[in-house]
Amino acid sequence: MREEDIIKELSKLKKDENYRSLKSIDKKYINFSSNDYLGLNEDRELRIEFFEKYKNVDLMFSSSSSRLLSGTYPIIIKLEKILEKIYNKKALLFNSGYDANTCLIETLFYKNSLIISDRYNHSSIYAGIKASEAKLLRYRHLDYNHLEEILKKYSLEYDDILVVSETIYSMDGDKADIKELVQLKNKYKFKFKLLIDEAHSFGVSGYGECYEADALDLVDYIVIPLGKAGASIGAYVLMDELSKEYLINKGRKFIYTTALPPINVAWNLFILEKIEKFDFRRERLIEISEYTRNLLSKYEIKTISTTNIISIVIGENQRVNRISENLQEKGYLIYPIKEPTVPKGTARLRVSLTALHTEEIIQKFVEELKYEIDNIL
Ligand SMILES: Cc1ncc(COP(=O)(O)O)c(C=O)c1O
Repeated sequence: MREEDIIKELSKLKKDENYRSLKSIDKKYINFSSNDYLGLNEDRELRIEFFEKYKNVDLMFSSSSSRLLSGTYPIIIKLEKILEKIYNKKALLFNSGYDANTCLIETLFYKNSLIISDRYNHSSIYAGIKASEAKLLRYRHLDYNHLEEILKKYSLEYDDILVVSETIYSMDGDKADIKELVQLKNKYKFKFKLLIDEAHSFGVSGYGECYEADALDLVDYIVIPLGKAGASIGAYVLMDELSKEYLINKGRKFIYTTALPPINVAWNLFILEKIEKFDFRRERLIEISEYTRNLLSKYEIKTISTTNIISIVIGENQRVNRISENLQEKGYLIYPIKEPTVPKGTARLRVSLTALHTEEIIQKFVEELKYEIDNIL
C-alpha cells in the first residue's frame, strides 16, 4: 500500500471516531473488559498451587521449535491424550484460537465447498473461509429457519458443506442453540459438517456447550480458544482422526510456527484437570449476571444479552466514545466496540462480567452508566 493511502485511511478513521490506539493500563480500574470470566487468571492461590505442583519439572518458557520438529514435548502429548478421553475425539493443540479457526477451515475446505456461517461469527472464521476459497453464505444471526432455507436450497448442489457457529456471542452476549443445530444435522441426514467455536463458553459451561448438550458425536469440529475463561493461551481443536492427520500434514498455521511453551501447556493441563471443580465460580457468574440484567432493566437500560457478556447498544461512535471515556475517568475499564467489529450505527459498550464482580460494584457502576447515558446525547 502506498504511504499516502495509508495516511488517508488513518485520517478517515480519526474523522469517523473509529481510530484505535494502544494504552497502557497504569491506573487501578474496576475491570469490565476482561474475559477472565471465572476469575482464574486473577487467582494468585491457583498460581501458587500450580507452581507447587510443577516445581520439579523442567518447564521451559520456549519450545524452541515447531511441533513437527522438537516442539512436541511429552506434556503436549499428555494434554492431547486427556482431551481425547474427555471429548471422545482426536485433539490437536494450536497456538491461538485465531490460528485454530483459520487453519482448520482453510486446510479442510476448498473451492468446491460451501460454508454457511452465522453472520456474527468471529473474524478468524471469516479469514479461514476467505483463504479456503469456498463459497460463503451467511445466515441471519441465530436464525435457524434462515439456515434451513439455505440448506434446503443448496444441499443438493454441494457435497461438501460446513455450517459454523459460535456458542456465546461476545458482541451481543447471546447464545446459539447447539441442540437445534444438531437436530438440523439429523434432519439433513448428515449432509453437512458442523464447526462450533467455544471461545466464550469453555469454562463458563464446564467443558463447553457441546459437551453439556451431549452433542459431541454430532459436532464434527470443536474449537476451544483458551484466552477467556481458560485463563491461558492456545486453542484445542477436537475432530476425527483423518482431519487431525491432514492438519498435521497440511495445516500451514500448525506446521510453520513455534509450538506453545511447555510452561503454558502445563498450565492448560492444570486448568483442564480442575475445570469440574469450578462450580462455585460458575454459579457466582450466573448470579451476578442475573443481578446486573435486573438492575439494568430497573434503570431502563436495554440489553439483548442473556449471558455474562452484557452488550449495551449506544448507536453512534462519538456518543459511545464519550460515555466510555467518562466511565474510564470514574475508574471503570470499559471500551467502546465499533464497526467493523459490530455493524455501523450499533456502536456499543460491552460489559464483561466475571465471577469476581460484586453487587456493590455493579450497583455503583449501573448508576454511573445511567447518568452518562442520560447526559451524553
Ligand atoms: C469467538 C472467538 N473465536 C476465536 C477467537 C480468537 O482466539 P484467540 O484470542 O485465542 O486467538 C476469539 C477472540 O479472541 C473469539 O472471540
